[in-house]
Amino acid sequence: MSDDRAELELLAEQLRYHERIYREGSPELPDSAFDELLERYALLADRLGIPGSERLDTRPGADHTEGFQTVEHRFPMLSLEKLSPARRDSKGAAMPLAEQLAAWYERRRKDLELTPGAGLPLIVEPKIDGISVSLLYQEGLLRRAVTRGDGRRGDDITRQVQESGAVPERLRGVSGELELRGELYWPHAAFRAYNEELRAAGERLIVNPRNGCAGLMKRKDPSGLGALGVKSFLYQVVWARGVELPQRQSEVLAWLERAGAPAYCDQVRVSAELAEVLAYCEQYQARRDSLEFDIDGMVIKVEELGFYDRLGSTGHHPHWGIAYKFPPERKATRLLGVAVQVGKSGKLTPVAELEPVFVAGTVVSRASLHNFPELERKDVRVGDQVWVEKAGEIIPQVVGVDLAHRPDGTVPVARPELCPSCSTPVLAEEIFLYCPNPACPAQVRERLQHFCSRHALDIDGLGPALIDQVTSKLDVRSPEQLFQLQADQLAELERMGKKSAENVIAGLQRAKGRGLARVLVGLAIRHVGETMAEDLAAYFGSAEELLAFAERYMAEDPEAVQRLSPDKGSGAIEGLARKTASSIFAELSSPAVRKVFAGLEREGVSLVATSARRSAVKGVAGKTFVLTGTLPTLKRNEAAERIKRAGGKVSGSVSKNTDYVVAGADAGSKLEKAQELGVTVLEEAGLLELLQAQGE
Ligand code: IVH
Repeated sequence: MSDDRAELELLAEQLRYHERIYREGSPELPDSAFDELLERYALLADRLGIPGSERLDTRPGADHTEGFQTVEHRFPMLSLEKLSPARRDSKGAAMPLAEQLAAWYERRRKDLELTPGAGLPLIVEPKIDGISVSLLYQEGLLRRAVTRGDGRRGDDITRQVQESGAVPERLRGVSGELELRGELYWPHAAFRAYNEELRAAGERLIVNPRNGCAGLMKRKDPSGLGALGVKSFLYQVVWARGVELPQRQSEVLAWLERAGAPAYCDQVRVSAELAEVLAYCEQYQARRDSLEFDIDGMVIKVEELGFYDRLGSTGHHPHWGIAYKFPPERKATRLLGVAVQVGKSGKLTPVAELEPVFVAGTVVSRASLHNFPELERKDVRVGDQVWVEKAGEIIPQVVGVDLAHRPDGTVPVARPELCPSCSTPVLAEEIFLYCPNPACPAQVRERLQHFCSRHALDIDGLGPALIDQVTSKLDVRSPEQLFQLQADQLAELERMGKKSAENVIAGLQRAKGRGLARVLVGLAIRHVGETMAEDLAAYFGSAEELLAFAERYMAEDPEAVQRLSPDKGSGAIEGLARKTASSIFAELSSPAVRKVFAGLEREGVSLVATSARRSAVKGVAGKTFVLTGTLPTLKRNEAAERIKRAGGKVSGSVSKNTDYVVAGADAGSKLEKAQELGVTVLEEAGLLELLQAQGE
């Protein structure tokens, strides 16, 4: 199992990426999948005791937009704990939702010290997937509207909300002061109509109603929002002064509705029978498609508001409510065709072309079919009715075929014999098919796109559309040629001008200094992902060393082969399986790759390791080590580097703050000092054992 800290760092990296592209208006993940990442992150961050100020989920201004005033919430806007179809018990067995709900309910009854006979009615409400809003009303008038933000502080969107007409400007017959919470949403029909206008104007479409609604509420100029049909569901009075409120949630909803607020009283159900509560959730789920809004589940709350204070909350969740999450949405649609996509390494992937269908907030017309054996296993045929699901996947998937409705005359999908891009005969390797032609135009394009992507050289401005043009019009075939591009050549291309061309050139200049690991990622060598690239760069230090080693390894130089034998050393590189090592080093010593390295060097691209990636290892991270004497296999600086990469500190002198002294032959005064102070002394083997924990 991977270390919590390492997983947390990985999650943080993913979350930052998705947040950025979300803000740029091109999200790749459905919101539910983003929330799943965030939840896992919060769980690990809790477990590791990461303080709020350092966390992504509670960082100030999570949804803050430049130009909007930040407002502190009087009471934090928390989130709900969830009943989840994916939850497992301590033995790994799936836990039915009914059991999870019963456990939650029992805990609440216990907290309230209810006698076995006493009822505890619950209320079930739809959980609309919109954007949360907090509304301040004074003397019946809407005074302020604030986004959730990081839960503690949000953005002031009063003008936008007022202009949108989504919530009442005035609450009828209400004096005093109160804060309401609710959800703003964009009904499907209004969202689709707006997207139609965008389509007609040739503009980029909005991914789903939720993102669209968030975008509308962050418009700097709110004029015209009133015509776009945004609505709301107001479900909670968080605090009130000088207002007489009922004591039950269902009555509060009715009270709100009498005051003119949309509180959806007719959509809720009160019951003290868990079976009935669950049945209502399931009934509502069955109606999901016919609703005018997206719901991602139901909210089950204690009906008696007088209990809320006694039930209390954690820093994240109130104890008076829980969310019932629906399983990922699945839709049936017709398979119109199977396209074959050529990846950067020549891998051919079958992609389903579908009759467009609305799944979990977006229109899906393409979905992954993974690989040909998988397609054959499912026996997916053109003309079939297939099931499409988006379960936290970037690309929607075809999860099955409705064999009962298979039309007559369908035939199995044939495996391609020729590459669809260059017509080279394809090769089969394990479960995949490959186009073996490295000059295949589709591969060239994909490889360059990958080289410029965020995880590799991260070249600003060189996106897929421009890569298409530089390959087709400027004849760029290889990464080093990108660095030879001139601003005036780029300025001539479609949708480019002098300014954007100069930006791309500046982006290329900046990318030159990203270092060896990013270059290795960018070259899309099989088995070399980000982690392997970083390990290789850290281990060899420079492309020169790495390539020299690759050559020796391929020539079966005994010393090189011995260096990587799995029982030697403990690092990621020494532990490389022989098959993987041979594949990586064969590619690195191929003339084509060497030519790219030489070209990149000529263009001034840095081919040395930048500071190595750190990946915390339990038992090493945060500990202070002192190295002394000559170690049997590791050089002193190698050992220090490995400790630092695992999150440990290396100090020159022994003190009571030292956790370990690693002593080799001829260790002198430092060893004595360690013994004096009772500091643990390790030999090299002991250190390697500690570092080894990484792989567990
Ligand atoms: S009660 C602690 N009731 O779901 C917050 N929330 O994680 C309790 N939501 O972002 C809120 N419909 O904005 C509640 N009927 C409903 C809801 C609802 C949607 C949203 C809420 C929050 C999330 C809860």
